Amino acid sequence: MRLTARDVSFTYPRGDHQVLSGVTFDIPDGASAAIIGPSGSGKTTLLSLMGHLLPLQSGTIQAVDADGTDHTLADTASWVLQTVSLLPDRTAADNVMVGAYSDGANRADARARARDYLAQVGLAGREDEPARILSGGEAQRVAIARAMASHRPIILADEPTGQLDTTTSATVLEAMIGAHGQRTVVIVTHDPAVAQRCDLVLELRDGRIVDHAGARV
Ligand SMILES: Nc1ncnc2c1ncn2[C@@H]1O[C@H](COP(=O)(O)OP(=O)(O)OP(=O)(O)O)[C@@H](O)[C@H]1O
Ligand SMILES: [Mg+2]
Repeated sequence: MRLTARDVSFTYPRGDHQVLSGVTFDIPDGASAAIIGPSGSGKTTLLSLMGHLLPLQSGTIQAVDADGTDHTLADTASWVLQTVSLLPDRTAADNVMVGAYSDGANRADARARARDYLAQVGLAGREDEPARILSGGEAQRVAIARAMASHRPIILADEPTGQLDTTTSATVLEAMIGAHGQRTVVIVTHDPAVAQRCDLVLELRDGRIVDHAGARV
């Protein structure tokens, strides 16, 4: 799915300033894009508008498939939120299976996907541990595996590697974006190494896109 944003502006209802101003970009089908910028520059707000967690006020955001048909991201994207939430009393595998079930997978398929995606994020052998005993970085990786298990064509991830060391971060990034062309991935990040690995870098400053440096697509 290609992602397009056209002239997106946003002000929080009780906010005192415009958080996003005329944001426009294209992310090609199957590409990975990093959204970077200082704290408060509007990264999470932009991702929330893309994922329908906030209502658009002006402009358009669309996913366009190979036939040129427009889709809403509500039906085509899965999320990794900045604040990870898992079902604490269920196992790591159960949490990932939730993603697979949202795609209509049966129990056996969901279980297989859980094993596969947990291994891809470096959690092989941890399937049956309850989520509540996982570390912050492990929980974050379960949330990433859950998003991948949904097999949706778009992943929107807010600081998905924020709590991970360099090696684990690279492993997780490969799992998310390594199979180029499989899915379109948008990653909000403060980590230059993550941005470097993405096909495209969108830099926000005071709610405006200022730089397309690093574009390799
Ligand atoms: N619910 C809200 N109501 C009013 N203002 C908000 C709300 N949420 C965020 N803001 C403001 O919008 C601006 C952008 O916030 P946003 O969370 O998008 O930044 P960010 O780039 O994701 O920052 P960080 O890197 O710290 O996560 C900030 O000035 C913030 O104070
Ligand atoms: Mg944020």
